[in-house]
Amino acid sequence: MLDFWILVIVLSLQLAEVVGSNSAQSFFSLNAPRYKANSDARWNSNSDGVFYNAGLFTPLKDFSSLSETEFTTFGHPAFPRHNIRIKKTPSGFCDDTANGYTGYIDIEARHLFFYFFESRSNPDKDDVIFWTNGGPGCSSSLGLFMELGPCRIRDANGTQYHPESWNQNANVFFVDQPVGVGFSYAEYGEIVSTTEEAAKDIAAFVSIFFENFPKFKGRAFHMAGESYGGRYIPVFASEVYDQNAYLVEVGLTPINLTSVMIGNGLTDFLETFISYFDLQCTPASVYPIQDIKTCIRMKEAIPRCRKWAKSSCLDVFDSMNCEAAMSFCSTELIEPFFKTGKNPYDISIDCEGDISDTLCYPVTKFISEYLSRPQVRTMLGVDPSVPGNFSSCSSSVSRAFSLTHDEYHPTNNYIAALLERDVRVLIYVGKNDWICNWVGNERWTLALDWSGGEAFRAEQLRDWKVDGKVAGRTRSAGQLTFVTVDGAGHMVPYDKPKESLQLVNRWLAREDL
Ligand SMILES: *[C@@H]1O[C@H](CO)[C@@H](O)[C@H](O)[C@H]1NC(C)=O
Ligand SMILES: *[C@@H]1O[C@H](CO)[C@@H](O)[C@H](O)[C@H]1NC(C)=O
Ligand SMILES: *[C@@H]1O[C@H](CO)[C@@H](O)[C@H](O)[C@H]1NC(C)=O
Repeated sequence: MLDFWILVIVLSLQLAEVVGSNSAQSFFSLNAPRYKANSDARWNSNSDGVFYNAGLFTPLKDFSSLSETEFTTFGHPAFPRHNIRIKKTPSGFCDDTANGYTGYIDIEARHLFFYFFESRSNPDKDDVIFWTNGGPGCSSSLGLFMELGPCRIRDANGTQYHPESWNQNANVFFVDQPVGVGFSYAEYGEIVSTTEEAAKDIAAFVSIFFENFPKFKGRAFHMAGESYGGRYIPVFASEVYDQNAYLVEVGLTPINLTSVMIGNGLTDFLETFISYFDLQCTPASVYPIQDIKTCIRMKEAIPRCRKWAKSSCLDVFDSMNCEAAMSFCSTELIEPFFKTGKNPYDISIDCEGDISDTLCYPVTKFISEYLSRPQVRTMLGVDPSVPGNFSSCSSSVSRAFSLTHDEYHPTNNYIAALLERDVRVLIYVGKNDWICNWVGNERWTLALDWSGGEAFRAEQLRDWKVDGKVAGRTRSAGQLTFVTVDGAGHMVPYDKPKESLQLVNRWLAREDL
């Protein structure tokens, strides 16, 4: 979410002068354990699936036996290098109408923290949603305590019940990823610096969870994210999809990947950059906010930005040239915006506070204060090695990603590949967001190269409604749906909780919007 995606851009421009991107890339590659190699060994050593069937392993039938005060640790013979530590959250935490759990998936020396809330309706039947915030480097506690979780932050002392939570009809995960984000950590301080690398840990996470908790096995599974999630989720879902072949090979149940949901995503960075003109200089969302002179200069810069980025980031990836191209695009299309003092996550309002302090939403500070409290950490089971003061967004993680130019690798083709395999895709966009806005998202969905593309392009946008009132516009064909949400910024569930829950419930139920 609070995707400090913009800070990343600024940061990457600064860092580019200090450290060459190639040296940064190889630095991280040499020092981070190569998960891929391990995973191959893991699969091969169990290729007959014998362990799973040999009665050596008893998965947990029911969570109710879990302790509220201490972690229970589970392993699985098919994943010899992995564990799951999980505990129940005590009553009084967040949502007393549904069971909640926290824990870590341990992937050798890497430890991913998660919250898991069962559905308020029918946990034994309802779908499972995986949620991640963006950044890169931002904690999913932002999504939990500010947007779609079962409770929202009230003040630094606590939370209050949130009636329009997405666990109304689904079991929902909130995962702090990659390592180094939120309560997740790595024992030797390794940092993940690309989405593809992060995807390995996520795929392991998902398979270990479902193997250990067979109650959820085979359940329809949706992978959702916001903002930089537009880069993460297509890659994560593809990794989970491809991993299924291995799961079947070793006699395990494949993950029932049913859909991906992306809110205000950064899927196609170039269309996003170019759409900054439309948001500032046309009434796409609000009345033009820039003077004519500024808009003319922006418009004249677009052909050069597009041509340069296409030749140096897309046609081939030339890291130094791509960086120079995006520096040019950024100077021409982004800098004028920041002179206006508007909130980049909602162009209809001004930023509240200093963006580097509040992310324009002072409520984020309550979340950090709450999650820094020792009693809260003990209750959640946060590992003592996690630093004391909670950061909503990790600057070291975002820096590592920007050094590899992770954001300049669009993920449209992953979306197309998932669609071709009948994975449904929901692209929803708060209409007033500037940073990952609806215009850029509409353009790349229309341009997407897939077998349903022609039918999708032939559809006109039409209104969709909640309680008889227009909530936004939508277009849908085959497995792909694009939808805008009126009156919402970057964080749709924060601004429009009722509409966002309706949207998700209709999506899970496969109803027309
Ligand atoms: C939080 O709790 C502390 C200690 O009980 C109290 O002093 C403070 O006023 C509370 N803050 C709010 C915003 O209620
Ligand atoms: C996957 O989930 C869908 C939707 O709930 C269900 O219809 C289907 O049977 C599931 N597939 C498997 C293999 O369990
Ligand atoms: C944590 O935050 C408090 C209050 O802002 C500050 O005094 C303290 O030095 C910080 N601790 C660390 C380890 O950064």
